[in-house]
Amino acid sequence: MLSMTMIFARGNRSFASSISALIISAAMITGAGAANIATTYNESCAACHDSGALNAIKKGNSAKWQLLIKQKGMPALIDSVKNGMIQMPAGGLCEACSNDDYRKLIEYMSK
Ligand code: HEC
Repeated sequence: MLSMTMIFARGNRSFASSISALIISAAMITGAGAANIATTYNESCAACHDSGALNAIKKGNSAKWQLLIKQKGMPALIDSVKNGMIQMPAGGLCEACSNDDYRKLIEYMSK
């Protein structure tokens, strides 16, 4: 009985570790070539733009993002993030971001 429990416990642990290995490799695949941008996105912009909290345009809603990029232009969008908007805090929670980072983040969200 005891050995049965031990086998079960061991099996469970390897199941858990293969799940985390899967998550790590999935993150590596999506982050290929844009690892820093993906990380920066997750650490700052994702707080609102992943869920659409406070009416932020969701990441992946390319129709809306493309329209906005066309209407306002990328430089204006970068300024919006830097200066903040009605609900978006200035800098979008990324204090270390450069203009180029913001441009990449906006492009990343628009895909
Ligand atoms: C606290 C929530 C929040 C965070 C964090 C956030 N945003 Fe936003 N963002 C919003 C909201 C809400 C809007 C819609 C405008 C408004 O109401 O402020 C918006 C609008 C935008 C726009 C459109 C600007 C325009 O001129 O229409 C861009 C571009 C943008 N965000 C980029 C970013 C980037 C890049 C980051 C990360 C560096 C980020 N946001 C982080 C909430 C957020």
